[in-house]
Amino acid sequence: MAKTLTKKWNLVRTVQSLSVALVGAFALTQGQTMSLGSAALVGDIQAGERKSVSCQACHGPKGISANPIWPNLAGQQEVYLANTLRAYRSGQRKDPLMGPMAAGLSDQDIADLAAYYASLKP
Ligand code: HEC
Repeated sequence: MAKTLTKKWNLVRTVQSLSVALVGAFALTQGQTMSLGSAALVGDIQAGERKSVSCQACHGPKGISANPIWPNLAGQQEVYLANTLRAYRSGQRKDPLMGPMAAGLSDQDIADLAAYYASLKP
């Protein structure tokens, strides 16, 4: 059961990244400026590390959470992290803890944080 769920979740993630790639490719062929956050902005790992101070209380100092109700972020896909943070920021994904955390993040903050957490060992 848990295995099936993981498989489904992986599939959802794959489909999400694929659609991001497709939209990106489309925007490029249309010659438009992309506003896809991480796809458009280059994340700076060091800046992300500095900006992650407020995240560490829950997600751990190196992206490994000490509490089972908070997810690990270390080694997660960069595009997924950026998409997720934008979803919390816009309210598309709702969580009472993460909504307020993401509300104040700029697109560059999100790109930097995503680059940083993706760079950590899972
Ligand atoms: C007060 C605790 C807390 C803090 C501080 C916090 N988070 Fe979270 N975070 C959570 C919880 C709880 C979830 C799971 C919420 C859910 O189910 O959607 C989460 C989920 C996430 C996710 C989605 C993970 C996934 O696998 O889908 C990301 C990305 C994330 N947080 C990034 C951050 C970043 C970046 C910061 C700092 C700017 C931060 N969080 C600060 C508690 C916190």
